[in-house]
Amino acid sequence: PTPKAPTQVLTADAFGSLPVQLAACRKCPLWASATQVVPGRGAEDAPLMFLGEQPGDQEDLTGRPFVGPAGKLLKNALQTCGLPESAIYFTNAVKHFRYERVGKARIHKRPDHAHVQACRPWLQREVDTLKPRVVVCLGATATLSLLGSGFAFKEVRGQWLEAGNGLLAFVTVHPAWVLRQTTQSDRERAFNLLVQDLGKVQEEMG
Ligand code: URA
Repeated sequence: PTPKAPTQVLTADAFGSLPVQLAACRKCPLWASATQVVPGRGAEDAPLMFLGEQPGDQEDLTGRPFVGPAGKLLKNALQTCGLPESAIYFTNAVKHFRYERVGKARIHKRPDHAHVQACRPWLQREVDTLKPRVVVCLGATATLSLLGSGFAFKEVRGQWLEAGNGLLAFVTVHPAWVLRQTTQSDRERAFNLLVQDLGKVQEEMG
């Protein structure tokens, strides 16, 4: 289903002052309780963008997306289906960690629609700069952020969608959802679903 445009090669500082501007963002209140903003990471000429929900605890502490347990599971799934990380730019719909304190623990709390909306222009900047061929939406929040509220996640999971200006979107489950499954066999089933979906992306990218 692809309009195959050549990958644009961008200079090393294609994002320019974006990380500095992100760090100064006050468009929603999440910055106040986060350790730091978590910008995207990866090659700036990557043909593939992976879009998550928001940084988790370890991402908040390190300032890098997908370095915690969900990131490790995703890495494993990518290796299983032969998608090289060097072809991927990783980022999130919301760039500050939202959590609830329970004792000493910081428990992930899903961002509200308003947080996603406030962060949306940053994602647009990343898409406009990187010009990826494909954006893989991991979970419902990423799908909402990229495609708007007209899509029910469960109906579009595993599907290719047109995201405007020739950009292709693919929707799949979030790796944290795989980790949240309570039994080993459910976790295996969920992991296989993620791998099956990412296999379609691998085929598309050739
Ligand atoms: N989950 C996400 O959605 N993004 C991250 O960076 C880490 C975990």
